[in-house]
Amino acid sequence: SSVSSDKATQETPSYACQRRTPLHHHNKEIVDALQILALSASFQGSEARYLGFTRAASVLKCLPFTLQSAEEVKDLQFCGGHSKTVIQEILEDRVCREVEMVKNSEHYQSMKVLTGIFGVGIRTADKWYRDGIRSLSDLNEIEGKLTGEQKAGLLHYTDLQQPVTRDEAERVEQLVKGALQSFVPDVQVTMTGGFRRGKQEGHDVDFLITHPNEEALNGLLRKAVAWLDSKGSILYHHIKGRSHNFARSSTMDGHETCYAIFALPNACPEKSPDAGTIQPDLDKSPPRNWKAVRVDLVVAPYSEYSYALLGWTGSKFFYPLLQHFERELRRFSLQVKKMSLNSHGLFDIEKKCHYPATSEEEIFAHLGLLYLTPSERNA
Ligand code: GTP
Ligand code: MN
Ligand code: MN
Repeated sequence: SSVSSDKATQETPSYACQRRTPLHHHNKEIVDALQILALSASFQGSEARYLGFTRAASVLKCLPFTLQSAEEVKDLQFCGGHSKTVIQEILEDRVCREVEMVKNSEHYQSMKVLTGIFGVGIRTADKWYRDGIRSLSDLNEIEGKLTGEQKAGLLHYTDLQQPVTRDEAERVEQLVKGALQSFVPDVQVTMTGGFRRGKQEGHDVDFLITHPNEEALNGLLRKAVAWLDSKGSILYHHIKGRSHNFARSSTMDGHETCYAIFALPNACPEKSPDAGTIQPDLDKSPPRNWKAVRVDLVVAPYSEYSYALLGWTGSKFFYPLLQHFERELRRFSLQVKKMSLNSHGLFDIEKKCHYPATSEEEIFAHLGLLYLTPSERNA
């Protein structure tokens, strides 16, 4: 045990962007438990507790071994007392009472269902909860008050709860590329988000679109989406952000973005499984040959492409989401380097200058950080 506690006391850099965080790690059970507590804290509006549990979970993802005994936990860095108690309880009893209580609580369960709807954030879900809404069927009563986004989210809830596979993501990529290339043949399209970090499944598919000639991007997203819509490939979309003037706001990310739900046609089967057999037609509804899939499309001018790529590769930082590489990167920039980082660029607050970059490697270098590949950013 003294060997493993030595391992545990090795220096861990304090910001997640200073560590290599792999997708697969050695302490899944404990990380899952801490993330349930983090999510529950965010449902209760407690950002401090959310961050405490998220940081502890993130540190454990970097441990090169499986925790075995409560003894090893004492010297873990960046793990608060509450998190340590949780970890020790799991190591000793296999379960943590607090986690079990949270999982069984009505608030947690309802908030999980309600925030699982596309277009519903924590504030909305919590307001609904206080109005007595507990489940999807309760939402029928306030259907008139739902936004278009939420109505679409509710309508396609079951499909959108199913993870998107890599194969499905690649078929979405073909659709998206086909539409964009019909207007600009040499447009650059990159899959970002979790799939770029090596995940095999995601809750959506994210794409970043750019072109060396910024004129070529003018109106492109709207045209491509309208084209896909006319082919029946889009169930819902809204486009946010400017249609491309280069005004830059310092803190907000403002790239033109399309948040969509695609109707992804099923893959062509190698052979029909039912060929030659007669099936009783019990359910009279025609078989559906598509699946609803969430898709984000982002347009970045070429000069901002590397910053947008870094920003949209994640892992995500938007409160209350659980993985937090992006948040840590921005916190490190500001606190340690006195630089403001967003998906448009990097601004040195003291020197009052911007740092252009033509690759992610250059951005890490500007920040004095060791380069991390996308698959090492699963903090
Ligand atoms: P899954 O989709 O669950 O596989 O995980 P993911 O890591 O791909 O998450 P998500 O698609 O939510 O976000 C991917 C990246 O895009 C993260 O780094 C987010 O911070 C970033 N992102 C998501 N939504 C927005 C947005 O509205 N604006 C900006 N600027 N970035 C966003
Ligand atoms: Mn994603
Ligand atoms: Mn996304």
